[in-house]
Amino acid sequence: KKYDFGLVGLGVMGRNFILNVADNGFSAYGHDLDEEKVASLLEEGGDTDKINASTSAPIFIEALSRPRKLMLLVPAGKAVDAVIESLLPYLDKNDIIIDGGNSFYQDTDHRESYLKSKGIHFFGAGVSGGAKGARRGPSIMPGGSKEAYQEVKPIFEAVAADFKGEACVAYLGPKSAGNYVKMVHNGIEYGLMQLISEIYDLLKKVGNYSNPELHDLFDTWNKGRLQSFLVEITADILKQKDDKTDGYLVDMILDKAKQKGTGKWTSQNAMDLGIPIPTIDIAVSMRELSAFKQERIKAKTLYPKKKIDQIEKGELGKWAEEALYFGYILTYAQGFHLLTEASKEYGYDLNMQTVAKIWRAGCIIRAGLLENIAKAFNETNAPTHLLLNDAFASKINDTVPTVRNLVSLAIKNAVPLAGLGNALTYFDGYTADRLPLNLIQAQRDYFGSHTYERTDTEGIFHTDWEV
Ligand code: 6PG
Repeated sequence: KKYDFGLVGLGVMGRNFILNVADNGFSAYGHDLDEEKVASLLEEGGDTDKINASTSAPIFIEALSRPRKLMLLVPAGKAVDAVIESLLPYLDKNDIIIDGGNSFYQDTDHRESYLKSKGIHFFGAGVSGGAKGARRGPSIMPGGSKEAYQEVKPIFEAVAADFKGEACVAYLGPKSAGNYVKMVHNGIEYGLMQLISEIYDLLKKVGNYSNPELHDLFDTWNKGRLQSFLVEITADILKQKDDKTDGYLVDMILDKAKQKGTGKWTSQNAMDLGIPIPTIDIAVSMRELSAFKQERIKAKTLYPKKKIDQIEKGELGKWAEEALYFGYILTYAQGFHLLTEASKEYGYDLNMQTVAKIWRAGCIIRAGLLENIAKAFNETNAPTHLLLNDAFASKINDTVPTVRNLVSLAIKNAVPLAGLGNALTYFDGYTADRLPLNLIQAQRDYFGSHTYERTDTEGIFHTDWEV
C-alpha cells in the first residue's frame, strides 16, 4: 500500500492537518521521531489504510506514492533543515517537499535552490488558521514550481477552507512567494489585533464599558461590515469568566504580548523595500513596549494621568465601530501595498485578487472586507494601492470625521491609540499632495550638500545656504 500524502511533525498542527487530509479521501502517512505522537495518531486514525505513521524516516518515505508529496509542519528555523537532511537520502528526483511552517522567506529561497540542485521540488506554503483551521480547513498559501504544484493541488484544494464553493488555496508564485504572503498575512494580523486592543481600551477607560457590554458590542459588529474572525473571537474572549476569581479571564491576563517574529519580519522587510506600513510597525513596537511592565508601572507614578473628556457610551460605541472599520481598511491597504511592491522586487508575480480571495476563509485575518478587497483588485482595473480605488475612497471618506474625533478623544484622555493614530496619520500623509519633506530636503542640502530637486525646473540643485 502506498499513501497519497506524507506529513512530518505530528504536533497539534501536523496531527490535525493529516487527519483533515484523510477525512477528504486521501491516504496519508505521518512521521515523527516521538513514539508517543506516532502511537496517538495511529490510535486516532483507526484504519491504517487511511492513516499510518512511523518514527522511521526510510519506512515513511518508502510508504509514499511517487512523486512523493510530503509536508513538514515543524517549527521554523533549524528544525526544517534538520528534517530535510534526515529525509534527503531516501528521496528521489521529482519528489515534492512542502514546508507548511512560518519559515522566513529567504530561508525558503535558499532551500528551494539547494533542493532544486538535487532534482527535488520545494514549496513554502504558509498555512493559517491555527489548530482548528488545520483540522477543519485552513487557508493555504503555496509558492514554488508551478508544474509541481499540479501534483499537490487536488489534496490542498480538498483540505483547504471553503468560501462559497471556492477553496482558500491557490498557487501564488515562484520561490518563496507563499511564505512571503504568509509573512505579510501575519503582519496584517498584528495590525488588526493592535487596533482591536486599542478600541477595547478606549471603550473601557473612556466609555466605561463593562465586559458584558463589550461582548455585546463586538458581537454586534461581527454581524456587520466588521465581520471577521478576530472580532468574533474578541467577543468570545470578553465573555469568558475566570475560574480562579469571580471576574472575567481577560482582566486577569498579564498585559505583556509575546511574538514569534513574523510581524517583525514584515516590518523589517518593508523598511528594506522602502514601503511604509506604519500600522504594522507600531503593532510590533507596542508588543515590545508591553514587555517593559515594571518600567511602565514606575513611569505611571511619575506621570499621573487625568481623564479630562467624557462622551456618552452609546455614541462612543458608534464611533468605535467606524474607527475600527477605517483601521481595518488602512491595515489591509498597507499590507497589500507591500505585497504589490515586493512582488515586483522579488519576481513573485502575485495576483492581489487571488491573495484576497484565499484569505476570505480559514485564516486568522479572514474578514467580510476581503470580498470588497478582492473586487477592488479585479484584473482589468487593479489599483496600485487600495486607497486609490473609488469604492474604498467613498467608504473611507464616510468614516474619516469620526476617526478624527475618536483619535482626539483618546489623545486627550491619554489612551494610546498607536495603531489607529498611525493609520490616520498615514492616511493624511498618503492623501497630501504636498508634504513638508521639502524642508527636510533643504536641511539635507544645508548641512550635507545632499542636493534637492525643484518644483518648477528639472534637474539637481545645491545652494550655498550659509551665505
Ligand atoms: C496563523 C497565525 C500563526 C501564528 C500565530 C502566532 O495564521 O495561523 O498567524 O501562524 O503563528 O498567530 O504569532 P505570534 O506568536 O507572532 O503572535
